[in-house]
Amino acid sequence: MTNDRGTTMPKVFYTQPDGTQRIIDAPEGESVMRAAVRNGVSGIVGQCGGSLSCATCHVFLAEDEADRFPPVGEEEDEMLDCAATDRLDTSRLSCQLVLDGGGDVHVTVPEAQL
Ligand code: FES
Repeated sequence: MTNDRGTTMPKVFYTQPDGTQRIIDAPEGESVMRAAVRNGVSGIVGQCGGSLSCATCHVFLAEDEADRFPPVGEEEDEMLDCAATDRLDTSRLSCQLVLDGGGDVHVTVPEAQL
């Protein structure tokens, strides 16, 4: 989908632990965390506003979408160890997942963020 400016508008699929799903159109350049908070997606808090100091934006990224984002950095890795829900191989901090023109993104929200 394209917006008024002719740029693409990826969709982000947020799946809750109970299987319910919200689908948000988010502009390129916005993070998966910011799109969630802006639209009131439950379970994504984003307490620090994206400065890698809270881990309340923890999500599980679809395995086949891992390669489209930069790998987990050192700071992100340390913060994931502090997440309220145990991390998995697919864990990411959604403030570090910045949307690009690569298509839709699918994340699952963990049981707890705090
Ligand atoms: S919003 Fe705080 S680490 Fe992502």
